[in-house]
Amino acid sequence: MKVLVIGGDGYCGWATSLYLSARGHEVTILDSLARRAWDREHGLDSLVPIASARRRVDEWTRVTRRAVRLETVDATDYEALCRVVAEIAPDAIVHFGQQRSAPFSMIDRDHAVRTHVNNTVGNLNVLWALREYAPDAHLVKLGTMGEYGTPNIDIEEGFLVVEHQGRSDRLPFPKQPGSFYHLTKVSDSDQLFFACRTWGLRATDLNQGIVYGTLTAETAASPALANRYDYDHIFGTVLNRFCVQAALGHPLTIYGQGGQTRGFLDIRDTVRCVEIALEHPAQAGEYRVFNQFTEMFSVAELAERVARVAAGLGLATEIVRLPNPRSEREEHYYNARNTNLRALGLDPTPLGDATIAGLIAIAAAHRERIDVRLIPPRVAWRPPHDAPERAVAS
Ligand SMILES: NC(=O)c1ccc[n+]([C@@H]2O[C@H](COP(=O)([O-])OP(=O)(O)OC[C@H]3O[C@@H](n4cnc5c(N)ncnc54)[C@H](O)[C@@H]3O)[C@@H](O)[C@H]2O)c1
Repeated sequence: MKVLVIGGDGYCGWATSLYLSARGHEVTILDSLARRAWDREHGLDSLVPIASARRRVDEWTRVTRRAVRLETVDATDYEALCRVVAEIAPDAIVHFGQQRSAPFSMIDRDHAVRTHVNNTVGNLNVLWALREYAPDAHLVKLGTMGEYGTPNIDIEEGFLVVEHQGRSDRLPFPKQPGSFYHLTKVSDSDQLFFACRTWGLRATDLNQGIVYGTLTAETAASPALANRYDYDHIFGTVLNRFCVQAALGHPLTIYGQGGQTRGFLDIRDTVRCVEIALEHPAQAGEYRVFNQFTEMFSVAELAERVARVAAGLGLATEIVRLPNPRSEREEHYYNARNTNLRALGLDPTPLGDATIAGLIAIAAAHRERIDVRLIPPRVAWRPPHDAPERAVAS
């Protein structure tokens, strides 16, 4: 297949691009390199050093004799995006290319607006470019489990059968996103559904859980192919952050009660899920949603797992609770369905102690690169003077 991977220089996109290339697909990466710029702007850096986009693509060709084409293009630049789509005539577009940090989107108005412009305009452009230049191509779009929030009922895969006043319909699942970033994903989902209904496009919305891990077979093949490992308070995800804290002997910091339960998956399953979606494309006019996670954990459970593995490695690690900078339920019901990808062949990689130990070991090996000032949360969902009751919906 000819696959255009938008956001292919990022964490999930890089691993996926190489995985698909290794399996014989013709991969083009389109990336604005915005994420590298946001890191610089906020004084952040991947814990594991990553090569420049050009250098890592060249290294892939050197190691495997396979070419991955690189287009440094912003998806918000419609003409440039169309040029690439028209030239490549892709069979599929995998769209990872968005601002994906909830804290980033909550820093201030400027960051909320930048997140919305980048994500919403980019997504609209992808849909219009498909309509104009590749109407049969399958769009595989990364959404997030965070679109659903934490409803007091089971979370279905995108749709819910609703009985109302004696009638019944299959409707989009109600969404209660928890940040301005997550709100962009809800808007994207609506746009995708609309474009499929109206223009007959075909799209799969992968509502992904929180990804952990850094190594895949392909990114481990050379240091210049290494993937990013984010641990900072803006882009770091929870398990990676706990492993970095454990490697330093730093307390594992839970926000609030730690009962926040979410779906998680290994980066090695992310790449496989995208492959499965590509191998089983949506029909023309079909918009479908796959919940892309393999296991559910509460934040406190994860901290306990990491502390236990760290203790086994001789690292003394305590768990501390910090005031929660986010507005979210800290104890809640959570049960999300994830059967669609399994039904199509996903064989999940459960979170094992070896994976946690591996992440701690990578963090320990790069400990001189860790800036401890970047670990504690700094972005609050509401200013400290705001009384909590003001945030409760009336
Ligand atoms: N990492 C996770 O745990 C996670 C969880 C759920 C969903 N997702 C989703 O998966 C996707 C990838 O996430 P990630 O962790 O790899 O993020 P990332 O920040 O590592 O990568 C995103 C990439 O997209 C690029 N990009 C951003 N805006 C762009 C634009 N307008 N045009 C072209 N390129 C652009 C960035 O430069 C970056 O290389 C995102 O859409 C994210 O919302 C990620």
